[in-house]
Amino acid sequence: MLITINDVLTPEELITTRKLLDHSTWASGLITAGTQAAQVKNNQQLPEDSGQLSALRRLVLGALNRNALFFTAALPLKILPPMFNCYTGNTNYYGLHVDGAMHRLAEGNGYVRADVAATLFLSDPDKYDGGELVIEDTFGSHSVKLKAGSMVVYPSSSVHKVMPVTRGQRIACFMFMQSMVRDPGQRRLLFDLDMALLQLRQSVGETAPVVSLTGTYHNLLRRWADN
Ligand code: NI
Repeated sequence: MLITINDVLTPEELITTRKLLDHSTWASGLITAGTQAAQVKNNQQLPEDSGQLSALRRLVLGALNRNALFFTAALPLKILPPMFNCYTGNTNYYGLHVDGAMHRLAEGNGYVRADVAATLFLSDPDKYDGGELVIEDTFGSHSVKLKAGSMVVYPSSSVHKVMPVTRGQRIACFMFMQSMVRDPGQRRLLFDLDMALLQLRQSVGETAPVVSLTGTYHNLLRRWADN
């Protein structure tokens, strides 16, 4: 299931993000690639010692924190610190790969299981050519290129790639998270139910059946969520 969330960042936050990125120095994207991914990864990334990274992360996590659609789509339990990457010039693509299942936390604080991935687009799509995020799932191949400040959320289990950027620069923020609900099928059911409830509440109001179905949503979440 791919879910697009528009305007995760406000225009002001986008300006701040770009200012911070303008003052940042990129490093090779190979610093975090696993063995398989390293063979096809050819991009740049902000290194952990980047002076701007903590402000950028705070800004993105703050935006996610207030976004109800993100919450219901991902049901995030633990979010790994967001990362930032850049595709341009000779470092302009990321071939077909899968993301690692387990991500080690800093300072021996254990691991986070990557159930859900998200890409937050930070460059205006008319400022670069190519750079589509192509995600393959059981329904086929999906090409995603969103306006700046918008985000796509998708299962970490999917095979995906970033097409070569042939003009301009594509900057994005990418992140992995462990979901309260590990199974993508169960997450999908909960998301569909929650979205239908939202529409029902708007059209018929808080009627007794709506309250009852809301209870069912929470009882399913209680049954399936782990922490
Ligand atoms: Ni990836």
